Amino acid sequence: MKKAFALIGAAVAVLAVSAVSASAQSPIIIKFSHVVANDTPKGKGALKFKELAEKYTNGKVKVEVYPNSQLYKDKEEIEALQLGSVQMLAPSTAKFAPLGAKEFEALDLPWLFKDDAAYDKAMKGPVGKYLFKKLESKGITGLAYWDNGFHMVSSNRPLLMPADFQGLKVRISGSKIADRYFRDVGAIPQILAFSEVYQALQTGVVDGCENTPSNYLTQKFDEVQKHITVSNHAHLQYAVIVNTKFWNGLPADIRAELDKAMAEATDYTNSIAHTENVEALAAIKAKGKATLHYLTPEQVAAWKTAMAPTYKWAKGRVGAEVLDVMSKELDIKMN
Ligand code: LMR
Repeated sequence: MKKAFALIGAAVAVLAVSAVSASAQSPIIIKFSHVVANDTPKGKGALKFKELAEKYTNGKVKVEVYPNSQLYKDKEEIEALQLGSVQMLAPSTAKFAPLGAKEFEALDLPWLFKDDAAYDKAMKGPVGKYLFKKLESKGITGLAYWDNGFHMVSSNRPLLMPADFQGLKVRISGSKIADRYFRDVGAIPQILAFSEVYQALQTGVVDGCENTPSNYLTQKFDEVQKHITVSNHAHLQYAVIVNTKFWNGLPADIRAELDKAMAEATDYTNSIAHTENVEALAAIKAKGKATLHYLTPEQVAAWKTAMAPTYKWAKGRVGAEVLDVMSKELDIKMN
C-alpha cells in the first residue's frame, strides 16, 4: 500500500514537472495582422519577419500572420492593437489619424517624393524618426517603415487631365490629405476599407481608386477598372507598429532577437518593393483587362498646379512642424 502511494506520488510529481516545463516552453505568440495579399511587398515582409523571428528565438516566439483582412479591417486593426488583441500591424501611414497622429498624413502630399531614393532617405532620416515619436504617447511603438511605391489612379474613363476627375467618386483609404487633393481636381473622395474596394468598384458604389500596382494586381482592381493612369502622384508606405506594453514586457534577449529579425525583414521588404511593383504592372499589362496610361510632362504639370492648394491646406491639418521637417529633408517648398 505504501509502495502504491509512493508510485502515485511520483507519477503526480512527474506530471506536475512536465506541466511546468510545458508552460515554460509554450511560445510567445505575436499576431501580425494586415489587409493585403501574401503576394505583395508587405505580405512577403510579414512572412519574412515570421521566418526570422522564429529562427532567431529558437521557436520561443511564434508569429501568426493574418493577411487579407482575415482578422480585422483597416480601422478595426488599429483599435485591436491598442486593446492588445493583436500585437503587430503594418498599416499604411494614411490610416494613422484614428491613433491621433495626424502628422503621418503629411506623407500623403501629392508629388512629395521625387523618386524612391528621396522617399528612402526621408524615412531613414529625421522624417521617419520625428513621426515615430508621435506614437509614443499613444501606447504604440514604431519599429520600421516598409515601402510599397507610388500610387496609380483608375476609373472607367481615362484620367489624363484634372478636368477628367470632375464628379468622379474615388475610394481613398483614410487620409484627409488624399481627400483634399482629390477634391482639388473636382472628385468626390470616399473612405472605404481596403477589403471592400473591389466590390465597391464592381457595383459602382465608387467610380475609381488609387493604389500601387501590386495591390491592383492581387486585388484584381484591373478587372473592374477600364483605365489605369500610372501617375505616381502619391506614395504608399507602411509603419510596422507594436503595442508598447506588449513589446516592453518581452524578455530583453527575446526583444533583441526580434529587433534583429525586424531589421532584416525591413531590408528585405524594401529591397523587393520596387521590383514587385514593376512586375505587377507588367502582369496587369499582360492581362490586358485595363488600358494603361502614362502622363506627359504637361499633364503632370497640370495635376501639380491643380493639387497645389492641398499644400497650403495641409498646415491646418498636420501642423507646421512636420511640414518643416519634411521641407528641410526633401529640399522642397511646402507652400
Ligand atoms: C489601402 O487601403 O489602399 C492600402 O492601405 C492597403 C495596403 O495596406 O496596402
